[in-house]
Amino acid sequence: MNYRQKTKDMVIKGFSTNVSLDHYSEIGLSKAEEYYFKKYLKPGGEVLDIGCGAGRTSIPLAKHGYIVTGLDIVPKMIERARVNADRENVSINFAVGDAVDLGFDTDCFDDVIFPRNSIEYIQGKENRLKAMQEINRVMKEEGHFIFTTMNLLYFDGGKQWVKLLGQKVSRMFSEKEVGDYTYDHCTVGGIENFQHNCSPFEIKEQLKKAGFELIEHCPENWFIEGKKTNFLANFSKGRQYYITKKVGK
Ligand SMILES: C[S@@+](CC[C@H](N)C(=O)[O-])C[C@H]1O[C@@H](n2cnc3c(N)ncnc32)[C@H](O)[C@@H]1O
Repeated sequence: MNYRQKTKDMVIKGFSTNVSLDHYSEIGLSKAEEYYFKKYLKPGGEVLDIGCGAGRTSIPLAKHGYIVTGLDIVPKMIERARVNADRENVSINFAVGDAVDLGFDTDCFDDVIFPRNSIEYIQGKENRLKAMQEINRVMKEEGHFIFTTMNLLYFDGGKQWVKLLGQKVSRMFSEKEVGDYTYDHCTVGGIENFQHNCSPFEIKEQLKKAGFELIEHCPENWFIEGKKTNFLANFSKGRQYYITKKVGK
């Protein structure tokens, strides 16, 4: 089995464990999500929640009056999301599917979200670009695409950059990209999962190629501290919010 397939299987298995299903069943929006969703999602509009997990964001959005479609690559997550939505008494259209190849019509959603770093579970730069192009295709013009990633390029005095330089050299002739890693922690439950941390510069370049205009790029901790975002956000540690808009043809 090749590296891409192996790491995709890891993601599906990692998010299928009971530990993971329970972890992602904690329903509710973060402060930043509350703010950005209210500011940018069309009130009462049709929202596609990709990598919806067990419904953490789909359920509150449905309660706020949005018409939500939740999509996830892991069948067990979708099963759990349906149970959680029934318990919360909301109606959501949940489906199993891959962000890289969305089975929806062109121009059918007002806005799309891909929350909690979920785009980072897609294997390979070209597949992450494909996902953005697919998202752009299924969205209406002027719609917003909101997502987060961790920052690969954070500045911690230089240690991270030295590590990345080492990865660049050692992975030169391998399918493994700089930023790919595997982890086994409380959110998975005893088995390895794959993740890719993204460079903000790569993300911005791909967004442009996929037909999006970047409106805001802000580290979550800066948002919480009320700090205005600037160029240094590209080197700040932690989760980063990207707010984008589909550019007209
Ligand atoms: C970190 S979890 C976040 C779950 C949810 N968005 C939340 O905030 O609680 C990442 C989710 O992305 C899903 N995922 C990973 N790769 C995907 C893909 N290619 N297409 C759709 N969903 C994917 C995983 O199955 C998992 O449910």
